[in-house]
Amino acid sequence: MPSGLPSAPPRPSLEIEPTMTNAFTPIEILRPTILEFGNGTITAAARFAERIDARRPLVISDPFNARRVDTLALPGAVKVFGEVKPEPDLPNLEKAVAMAKEAKPDLVVGFGGGSAMDLAKLVAVMCTSDVPFADIVGPEKVTGRSVALMQVPTTSGTGSEAGTRALVTDPVRQNKQAVQSRFMLADIAIVDPDLTMTVPKEITAATGVDALAHCVEAYTSRKAHPMIDLYALEGARLVGRYLKRAVADGGDREARAGLSLASLYGGYCLGPVNTTAGHAVAYPLGTRHHIAHGLACAVIFPHTLAFNMSAVGAKTVAVLGALGLPEQSDPKLAFDATYAFCKNLGVEMRLSALGVPKNDLGVMADEAHAIRRLLDNNPRDLSRDAILNMYEVAF
Ligand SMILES: NC(=O)c1ccc[n+]([C@@H]2O[C@H](COP(=O)([O-])OP(=O)(O)OC[C@H]3O[C@@H](n4cnc5c(N)ncnc54)[C@H](O)[C@@H]3O)[C@@H](O)[C@H]2O)c1
Ligand SMILES: [Fe+2]
Repeated sequence: MPSGLPSAPPRPSLEIEPTMTNAFTPIEILRPTILEFGNGTITAAARFAERIDARRPLVISDPFNARRVDTLALPGAVKVFGEVKPEPDLPNLEKAVAMAKEAKPDLVVGFGGGSAMDLAKLVAVMCTSDVPFADIVGPEKVTGRSVALMQVPTTSGTGSEAGTRALVTDPVRQNKQAVQSRFMLADIAIVDPDLTMTVPKEITAATGVDALAHCVEAYTSRKAHPMIDLYALEGARLVGRYLKRAVADGGDREARAGLSLASLYGGYCLGPVNTTAGHAVAYPLGTRHHIAHGLACAVIFPHTLAFNMSAVGAKTVAVLGALGLPEQSDPKLAFDATYAFCKNLGVEMRLSALGVPKNDLGVMADEAHAIRRLLDNNPRDLSRDAILNMYEVAF
């Protein structure tokens, strides 16, 4: 287990940080129009499609889920784009949009993990418009959507079904481009935990820590808000209670349902508050070295949690408690406990073992440090050298 922290922050206060919980900060909450949650709710897919009289549904899916599109029981002439890649890139998006322009769907369905759901959001707004992708990157640049959008998650991690964002990797710049738009919010999200029963152990562990990271980063963000804190802390508690169980036994229905809820709550955290340093530091692992998003988040999670502790001590202690870990205020102990939490799930925590070359750590630190949309909301300023230090400790 690596030792040492990026720096030696002062011991955190156990007082509630007054600036971190400001009930009077205005906040706007956007949610899918309809949300179906629970075992067996997949039957709502056909009901919705029939109600809107969908005749040409287009399902956007990864190869695994493309093979079981019949589960959705959609009416009409169903078309399937079944080539969504993990961490989809721009060529992958372009291929899906090209197929959609030909198919002229009246309903787009994201059926898969965050990768499929993110592409479905973009396909839904791009298939009836010629606006290039570059022109919609950023917040609220999309001007509308004229096809219906359904989201059906099959992993418990991203919470993308509940949100307005989509992330696509630009292979040339090797970074993630984020599009955020209220028009990419689903008309209906169907969260049926039974669809996640087949997720393999490693993906269960990594995606579970991704959901946890959404909750924890939003909870400790400079933009944290009491209306979201509730979901954030409960999401962390659900991960603490159920992730180990689902990794040990993928057929544990109660654990799967608990994680589906945690993932959804993480999604609630992303919209109005969003993530901070954990995701910024994790992104170069995916964009430069093709490490899956959840795995990258899990590797980085203990590092940013411990680093931030001096700024958000009470909230970090609450997170430790929610995870069932000792509620103490020493960042080194918090690091050790959360590192062990991830490692005991079977997550490979060493960058070297994940194929990251040592001589790339500096460029990765430059890239992570440039992700201001996330880092500017981190509760503690994180320098480029502190990021490099995290990578070195994680190596
Ligand atoms: N929009 C958002 O707010 C948001 C938030 C976090 C992450 N993301 C993005 O989501 C993507 C990651 O999504 P993910 O972690 O869900 O992984 P994923 O969608 O890439 O899926 C990972 C793998 O799991 C397989 N899979 C999916 N469901 C399965 C099932 N039920 N059984 C067996 N295998 C299954 C897929 O085929 C794939 O190989 C990244 O691109 C990330 O940037 C988006
Ligand atoms: Fe994430």
